[in-house]
Amino acid sequence: MANNRTFTMIKPDAIAQGNEGAIIQKITNSGFKILALKMTRLSREKAQAFYAVHEDKGFFEGLVDFMTSGPIIAAILEKKNAVEDFRALIGSTNPEEALEGTIRNLFASNIQENAVHGSDSDENAAIEAAFHFNDDEIVTY
Ligand code: RTP
Ligand code: MG
Repeated sequence: MANNRTFTMIKPDAIAQGNEGAIIQKITNSGFKILALKMTRLSREKAQAFYAVHEDKGFFEGLVDFMTSGPIIAAILEKKNAVEDFRALIGSTNPEEALEGTIRNLFASNIQENAVHGSDSDENAAIEAAFHFNDDEIVTY
């Protein structure tokens, strides 16, 4: 399969705990190439729009509170089979179920404060990347 892209955010809990460097190192050590990277803070509107698929869920308001509680790092990553391999690297949403050595196993606190986001399909990866980055902020190399 050709190289393709996924989108990630390092979430506010991971940055508050100083884990962003270790997480980025694990990502690059796992064969992902960084094509775009930025430290930013989501507005409520942006967080609501990003997670709009969950707006009917009981955890939605808490999720928006959490995702706006501090800065995040957004990135576009490239690798063969990027979406699936990155979901495997981050592990299950609930860190208690995340396999040993996965990013959420190592760095997540609980099902909400779970250190990282990873796109769940190629289609969503493209939408989420465009949500956070202009074309001139994305490199190819
Ligand atoms: P993500 O989108 O952030 O990569 O996470 P995911 O696919 O593994 O999980 P998803 O079902 O899309 O949920 C999005 C984020 O909402 C928070 N959440 N809280 N309190 C809860 O029961 C609950 N469930 C989900 C998490 O931050 C989750 O990553
Ligand atoms: Mg998700």
